[in-house]
Amino acid sequence: MSVVLGINCYHPGASAALLIDGVPVAAIAEERLNRKKYYAAFPALAIQRCLDMAGLDFKDIDAVALGRDKSANRAQKLKYVASKPSKLLNFVKIRAARSDMDDLKTTMANECGVAMSSLRFTQHNVEHHIAHTASAYFISPWEHAAGLTVDGSGDFGTSIMAECQGDEIKILHRNYVPHSLGSLYTMICEFIGYGRYGDEGKVMGLAPLGTDAYHDVFEDMIRPKGDGMLLDPSYFVPFGSNQGMSIDDKGMMVVHRHFSDRVVELFGPPRDRNGAITSRDENLAHSLQVRFEAIYMHLLRQLHKKVSTDRVVMAGGCALNSVANGKLFAETPFNQTVIQPAAGDDGLALGASLYVSNCILKEGNRWVMRHSYLGPSYSSTVMRHALEERGVEFRELDRGELLEQTVNELEKGNVVGWYQGGSEWGPRALGNRSILAHPGLPNMKETLNARIKHREPFRPFAPAVLADRQNEIFAHDHPSPFMLHVYEIRPEWRDRLCAVNHVDNTGRLQSVCRDENELYYDLIEAFGVRTGIPVLLNTSFNENEPIVERPEQAIDCFLRTRMDVLVLGNFFCRKAAS
Ligand SMILES: [Fe+2]
Repeated sequence: MSVVLGINCYHPGASAALLIDGVPVAAIAEERLNRKKYYAAFPALAIQRCLDMAGLDFKDIDAVALGRDKSANRAQKLKYVASKPSKLLNFVKIRAARSDMDDLKTTMANECGVAMSSLRFTQHNVEHHIAHTASAYFISPWEHAAGLTVDGSGDFGTSIMAECQGDEIKILHRNYVPHSLGSLYTMICEFIGYGRYGDEGKVMGLAPLGTDAYHDVFEDMIRPKGDGMLLDPSYFVPFGSNQGMSIDDKGMMVVHRHFSDRVVELFGPPRDRNGAITSRDENLAHSLQVRFEAIYMHLLRQLHKKVSTDRVVMAGGCALNSVANGKLFAETPFNQTVIQPAAGDDGLALGASLYVSNCILKEGNRWVMRHSYLGPSYSSTVMRHALEERGVEFRELDRGELLEQTVNELEKGNVVGWYQGGSEWGPRALGNRSILAHPGLPNMKETLNARIKHREPFRPFAPAVLADRQNEIFAHDHPSPFMLHVYEIRPEWRDRLCAVNHVDNTGRLQSVCRDENELYYDLIEAFGVRTGIPVLLNTSFNENEPIVERPEQAIDCFLRTRMDVLVLGNFFCRKAAS
């Protein structure tokens, strides 16, 4: 038996993934366990949980794959520092802070509280963007694909193009700091008041409310150049090799000011986080998205010229831009995508481990990701105990009754917390840690926001659709199993899906196949039989916190908010009408 542990540490989205004989058996981000969003220190709890899920111990680990390699792109780093001597001190500090990654045996022994003598693994450092590429390619069913990664930065790279074939990833082109599509997105998000790490997704929802009023300025900010892109540094604070990010002593990400005075001169003062959103902010979000898509499509078209295939695998934080992903079929020659559900840096743990298994150890055991439920699941005994401990009244129902009662509640317009099986890998709730609701009720979005989610009113909720009915409702049939594509909703369905129809008549759908999640599929199907709508509104099970992981957290969220119903495994809990 071969055991490979992948980790992402001292970087946002600390996480762990465990492979046995090349097959992932567990993967989870540290934030789900320690409840600190985008936690960026060491994933001690996640490692322990992965081992527990597999029934293994630290001594059983043969190899540890780290999704970082500080020796990568050394020549480019030195060139950058040489051109900016003022950055030298910063550069040295960053390297010193990363020394814990040099000797993972010592770090793991200290952080996980295990004896050094029990650790016998070999350490493999995998360059950040190669780990991203592996995270997408080695979950695909393909033996040949083009690979594109795009993010803020990692190991001094900001994007790579690759040809993936068999068990090899051949790098065709790299982009380096500071020329970063992700950093451009972060800079504008910060300027319009969304300066916390991970806020980019919110701004994507704001974009359709504006117009492309700043087209020319954005054309100046970032340009296609050859196979890559060129950022105009005058719009940015010179942020150095850490791309304007650091980690505080609690392991939380700190985003430093990215925008230069030139941006303020052009657009006026930045919006305060709590200030009103003006048409300027909406237009900035819109022009940003337009420019993002132009560069994204440029990279994809250039990649296609290098690799003769219509299949592309993608990862990196920018691959979470589901609006751009939905358009790439029309705007590039690619017609099939596989995008890693944990496309952000949490996915590096899985990517690094898959790289080591396939490319270094040559285990030759390719694995196709059909679903993302790689996190822990909990027994009925644990769930029952958690309910009893909190004094929550419940009924234990058989499968048929559970589906019928849940559909009854959804049809009435009630909000259902739906907690089943293993938790999802990646940032999206995909039917195991979800809040579900009727997608066709005019006030449902406001109800969810007022009672549970407290999100900005411009942010859309997502539709989960039966995969075999997708093309009838959405204007594209390429599957979106991990909620990473936005498609137009067909005109005849827009009113019927008013709670998930965004202002530009689109939806960020999840295509649900029965093979991947039987109970969830059957629930949506039963709702469709009852209402004529084979779609449910699906949003993550949380209230301004990481997605719930344990049953206790789901119950607490149910009790704390004005959620109507909690379905926890086979336990059905309904709040008494007040
Ligand atoms: Fe990354």
